[in-house]
Amino acid sequence: MGVIPDEALTEYYERVRGKTVIITGAGASIGRATAILFASYGAKVVVADKNASSAEDTVSEIRSNEGEATSCRCDVTVWEDLVAMYDLAVQEFGSVDIVVANAGVGEIYGRMLDDFSKERPTKPLTTTIDVNLTGVLYTVHLAQHYLQLNRPQEDRTSRSSSLKAVVLVGSIASWTALTQAPMYTASKHAVLGIMRSLDSSFASRGLRIASIHPFFAGMYRFSLASMDVIHPSIRSATSLVPGIVRLQLAGIPLAPVPRIAGVIFYAASHPDPTCSGAAFWIPDGGAPTFIIPREEFKPGVYEYIDSKSNAASKYDMISY
Ligand SMILES: NC(=O)c1ccc[n+]([C@@H]2O[C@H](COP(=O)([O-])OP(=O)(O)OC[C@H]3O[C@@H](n4cnc5c(N)ncnc54)[C@H](O)[C@@H]3O)[C@@H](O)[C@H]2O)c1
Repeated sequence: MGVIPDEALTEYYERVRGKTVIITGAGASIGRATAILFASYGAKVVVADKNASSAEDTVSEIRSNEGEATSCRCDVTVWEDLVAMYDLAVQEFGSVDIVVANAGVGEIYGRMLDDFSKERPTKPLTTTIDVNLTGVLYTVHLAQHYLQLNRPQEDRTSRSSSLKAVVLVGSIASWTALTQAPMYTASKHAVLGIMRSLDSSFASRGLRIASIHPFFAGMYRFSLASMDVIHPSIRSATSLVPGIVRLQLAGIPLAPVPRIAGVIFYAASHPDPTCSGAAFWIPDGGAPTFIIPREEFKPGVYEYIDSKSNAASKYDMISY
């Protein structure tokens, strides 16, 4: 596991100039800060959000700093919205180079922790899974097509060094259990699984994929290269964190949103191929960012489980 200092996060800024970056959920907080960061280095940004007016606000902020961006109303749970988002990127900017699957919601309408003293349980709504898992799967499915559109054939191999990347936004809940949020925890564990599962097939086609995993995020004033102020309303935690959790977190330094944006930037732009298949862990504000390269998913318990499950699947194949 390596440490990434904040100064290194935008080290490869030249690689994003003129590239097309799509960010879902870019109307607020982490998505907005990421859109502003990419645009400040000359990327052309498609700001997608279910909330059209907040997406438009992000675009206005980018344009007021002479950046290039376009907005699009897109609900990531709706396949047709996502197709229209990718088509817009190609139509406006000619290609798609980086996709950030950021849109996400907390444990809303969960009811997995219902009041079980009632006579009959209430059917739980699965909005959290729909947005955080199905939405991410749709986004990544389409990314594999659109990242290759208008790309030279000879560049679509494992030897390619051109920038074509997907970054998934997980959470500390990808690794640990949030006891009041079973659907959120399941969806974010799944994000890590999607990244690990697709890594090798992405690599064989000259594509990259990584996931980032922040602790609870805070809207702090925090200096990161070109981005000193990230949003006019600086609050202690993003709107995704429920009020009760904010109270529980009082006094704990949250993960600064600009650092999270910087880690997304790093994961997408760093030329080192080992950044693909890697997970980036962004702990509370007092600690730096850690990279967990794919090789480190192999030893110890992972090796044991991999070998057992491979043995079991071989056995299944023989017996059927
Ligand atoms: N805030 C945190 O503490 C924290 C910590 C770890 C990970 N994350 C993850 O970071 C990502 C962004 O979180 P945030 O804190 O910026 O949240 P936020 O609620 O502040 O902003 C999320 C944005 O996504 C949009 N959105 C919601 N549902 C959507 C949908 N179906 N389609 C398209 N857009 C939709 C919202 O309109 C909003 O603009 C999420 O995936 C979240 O799980 C957040």
